Amino acid sequence: MRYPPTELEPIADPEYTFACPICLTTELKVQKASARFSQGLHCSRCDRSFTANETSVDLTPTSGADMRVYKQKFWGGTQLFRSPLVSFVYERGWRQGFSWGGFPGEAREFDMAMDYLQGAYGETIVDMSCGSGLFSRRFARSGKFNAVIAADFSESMLGQARTYFEADNTIDPRKYILLRADVGRLPFPTSSIAGMHAGAAIHCWPNPTAAVAEISRVLKPGGILVASTFLKASAPLGQLFDNDDLFRPLNALDPTSAGSSSNYQWWEEQELRELMATMGLRNFQRHRSNRFIMFSVQKALQAS
Ligand SMILES: C[S@@+](CC[C@H](N)C(=O)[O-])C[C@H]1O[C@@H](n2cnc3c(N)ncnc32)[C@H](O)[C@@H]1O
Repeated sequence: MRYPPTELEPIADPEYTFACPICLTTELKVQKASARFSQGLHCSRCDRSFTANETSVDLTPTSGADMRVYKQKFWGGTQLFRSPLVSFVYERGWRQGFSWGGFPGEAREFDMAMDYLQGAYGETIVDMSCGSGLFSRRFARSGKFNAVIAADFSESMLGQARTYFEADNTIDPRKYILLRADVGRLPFPTSSIAGMHAGAAIHCWPNPTAAVAEISRVLKPGGILVASTFLKASAPLGQLFDNDDLFRPLNALDPTSAGSSSNYQWWEEQELRELMATMGLRNFQRHRSNRFIMFSVQKALQAS
């Protein structure tokens, strides 16, 4: 099915419900009636307006603010991906380079993610830290979801995502929306999201604890998070001998290991398990290969 603007089928437009990123209380609704929308979003409780234009909705806490002097420090891997050059080369070689760590490649990773996400079929899915939208487009094309929210902090990544989305006329433009958001302050109402994907991203987030707490907050009961990342250098040995603890000391010798000055934080499986469980995300399942891990967790069905 092709979707030039004049040939849209008469389907119901998905309505996207966001939340003010400051109070997390006021609901902000957007209906993407066509490939274009221009309404601004306002929270009267916080007396703040947020930017919404034809490229994306910006619901970062600083959206639209004129800040001449204030700069946030300690951004981890967030700033690197705001570079237009990095965004441009991302799908043109950078992402493919993740094969050094055992990432099996976009097609296989997508199939694995779809397996984990089956419980969210028919619902709206968030592709968190979507980068240039390589998986967001596949989710939209799959026809398995009501709609796709492609979310990232980087304006230039979202710009690339928009270019790729618009070039793909097999995707109905009403079925996706681009959202600028900080994973540490998610602009979604509590318990509103059935499924979230975060490919190759958690090692870039400046505060994974805050981010995972936010993800847990916004997931519906039974909601699913599926994420992939890089494990620490000793992971292949740990997997071979089925004992990560034994090889942990080797990580201190790894020159790429994240010290305080690194943009990235590599992970141990056990760290991921502990962080997810601490934030109320259960049923940890995973696939590992070399330094690649894809895992899924689920929000409890109901509070005990
Ligand atoms: C390595 S890319 C992953 C892109 C894509 N998901 C993939 O699987 O290839 C990491 C992404 O995380 C995003 N990111 C970093 N910090 C973020 C933050 N604080 N909030 C939201 N996204 C963030 C970056 O902008 C970047 O697009």
